[in-house]
Amino acid sequence: MHIPKDFSMAPALRRRRQQLAKLIDFPVILWSGRSCSRNFPANTYPFRASSHFLYFAGLPIENAAIRLEAGKLELFMDDAPTDSALWHGEMPKRDEIAAVIGADAAFPMTELPSRANDAGTIAVQNMATQQQQSQVLNRPIFPANSPEGIDLELTKAIISLRLTHDDAALAELRQAGVVTVEAHKAGMRATQTAKIEAGVRSAMESHIISQNMGCSYSSIVTVCGEVLHNDQYHHPLQPGDLMLADVGAETTLGWAADVTRTWPVSGKFSPTQRDIYDIVLAAHDACIEKIRPGVDYRHIHLLACQIIAQGLVDLGILRGSAEYLVEMDVHALFFPHGIGHLLGLDVHDMEDLGDLAGYEEDRVRSHRFGLGYLRLNRLLSAGMLVTIEPGFYQVPAILNDPTLRSKHQNLVNWDKLEKFADVRGIRIEDDVLVTQKGTEILTAALPNKAEEVEDLIGAN
Ligand code: GLY
Ligand code: MN
Ligand code: MN
Repeated sequence: MHIPKDFSMAPALRRRRQQLAKLIDFPVILWSGRSCSRNFPANTYPFRASSHFLYFAGLPIENAAIRLEAGKLELFMDDAPTDSALWHGEMPKRDEIAAVIGADAAFPMTELPSRANDAGTIAVQNMATQQQQSQVLNRPIFPANSPEGIDLELTKAIISLRLTHDDAALAELRQAGVVTVEAHKAGMRATQTAKIEAGVRSAMESHIISQNMGCSYSSIVTVCGEVLHNDQYHHPLQPGDLMLADVGAETTLGWAADVTRTWPVSGKFSPTQRDIYDIVLAAHDACIEKIRPGVDYRHIHLLACQIIAQGLVDLGILRGSAEYLVEMDVHALFFPHGIGHLLGLDVHDMEDLGDLAGYEEDRVRSHRFGLGYLRLNRLLSAGMLVTIEPGFYQVPAILNDPTLRSKHQNLVNWDKLEKFADVRGIRIEDDVLVTQKGTEILTAALPNKAEEVEDLIGAN
């Protein structure tokens, strides 16, 4: 880890821990975690610090912990052993890091158990660290999605802070957005020369890496857009294909962007592709138009369902009123996921906490086909960052499912649907900040209208 020259988060970190102190009256210890080995100990996966740690400590320090109490921060970490400099160079020392992040005191790790009495924590997504948490606190640690006692109290307090973003977080999130927009443009430009999906992926990730950022999740760059989280890149690009690219940058301090565009490999949408693209875009635009503080995100999801259902009725693919089709979950045959999620330090922000962050306290996941994958079910407030990502997919596992098919036999014009065989998957996703007045789209600089996208690919 290195300390960025322009690191200026210390005042924000202080404000965050002071806010936490107003919500809870017990000490808190948050661990950063450690890197995992791939095939032998010295060959590790890239380290990613726990997001709850990052929120209060600011820097991705490996094998560290912070103790927060009454607005004060104590940093616990060991300086790198002397022989590590041979392989990894000189690392910043504990006291230097403590000064930069505005810690009130700093200690070696051996001191942590003596400061651990009655402290709350959140389980890190790493078994070795969870064991360490349990040992230091001398009690069992429950998974982050089902905390108990003071850990639950702490979890709720941290959620209430992380749900909305302060200026320091927004500065990072905007940077991630800027780099992500350029990555998508690079992917569009690379499409006409790339032979396989990996060629487009490399152009996109290359831009992100060139800005000294990483990806906030495994890139989805595929001509098989119906596979929602496709992680294969070997398919050849054919002129009639649609390329679906869901790629987002993550800043060095861990803040994420999450953007999807879908474009024609040839540079020109076919009439059928264009028809469906415009429906998805209409849903995207209508949802963003409705977002403001106080609006229920569940209603935003249902609005997207309604617009997609109506669009498919207008094309003759569905039969009936849009209201009835959504009530029957028929839209979910083609739009099976939720309209989006929280975005912040995690691409699905705080999803380590299960639905504790995404759902209001009195709401639970629906068992309905058309609502079960909704990740965010809350009233919106200013400072929240959410994605809006409607889509249309022809997923064989859904459309060929005998139960679903017979249930909706008469509500779908299956013959008409066959004419849209060249539309495997379309998604359009932007990162939308809820403001006092309405919204600010952090990724608005990336065009999404069909003609603009065609222009970027360079066929016109
Ligand atoms: N990139 C994953 C998602 O859009 O939720
Ligand atoms: Mn998303
Ligand atoms: Mn995405």
